[in-house]
Amino acid sequence: MAENGKTIQFHVTRYNPERDAKPYVQTYAVPVREGMTVLEGLHYIKENLDASLTWRYSCRMGICGSCGMLLNGKPSLACNTQILHICNAELAVGPLPNFRIIRDLVPDLTPMFDKHRALKPFIVREEAEINDPAGEYFQTPEQLEKYLQYAYCIKCGCCMGACPTLATDERYLGPMPLASAHRYNEDTRDDGRRLRNQVTGDSHGAFRCHYAGECSRVCPKGVDPAKAIQHLKRQLVLDYLRLARRRKPCEKLHGPGEGKPLPNIAAPPPRTV
Ligand code: SF4
Ligand code: SF4
Ligand code: FES
Repeated sequence: MAENGKTIQFHVTRYNPERDAKPYVQTYAVPVREGMTVLEGLHYIKENLDASLTWRYSCRMGICGSCGMLLNGKPSLACNTQILHICNAELAVGPLPNFRIIRDLVPDLTPMFDKHRALKPFIVREEAEINDPAGEYFQTPEQLEKYLQYAYCIKCGCCMGACPTLATDERYLGPMPLASAHRYNEDTRDDGRRLRNQVTGDSHGAFRCHYAGECSRVCPKGVDPAKAIQHLKRQLVLDYLRLARRRKPCEKLHGPGEGKPLPNIAAPPPRTV
């Protein structure tokens, strides 16, 4: 029994793909004190009850983004969640949804990072960097404010685990990569928006999002990916219209002339009901 008399039943999803046909739930009684995090509860299980339990973590302070898991149905960081803040007696602990399970509570985040990489999550410059080592790219506080909240993302994948669109379309880019694309598009030092448009504007891109907002609700860092995606949609449409206005009348009728490169932008897909 813990100091404050609480014992919480941890119902933990277990799965070893080399041994188990499918995931199952195992229950452990964990003595809990005030302020104890879910991560500490998992450590208690590993040290005292079952050394085979597997999960991923590193910083223990909500920075590295590696301990994302499903806690009583909500994607959360285990190190950033106090047990007694979310339950009185029972706690369901599972791996993040919408990812393949590597083992127990460890999701395979590779598809998320592949999508992220495809969106060029760095500053793209059309011109060479300035040569003056003491030089700098000036940015006003207002310009910084436009993307700052998106820069707080720690790539934990909680938003991806909450997204209903990703649950039905595994090729959907998802809230984290799309919010990151918006973060760089909004950066005044960046020239890469046209390149990112080719990916964000495709049929598994921003227009797939139906603004359920679950991603923003669960984000442990206060990032608002749902808002970023709506901004992306708007910018895609504006870029498309701007491009269409620049085309010659004959191109508007027949498309770009033979031998001409296609415009460096994807058109928004037709609206579906
Ligand atoms: S947007 Fe939030 S929930 Fe999504 S990966 Fe970044 S920090 Fe995690
Ligand atoms: S707002 Fe869009 S990205 Fe976020 S959870 Fe909903 S469908 Fe997914
Ligand atoms: S252990 Fe790093 S965010 Fe939880």
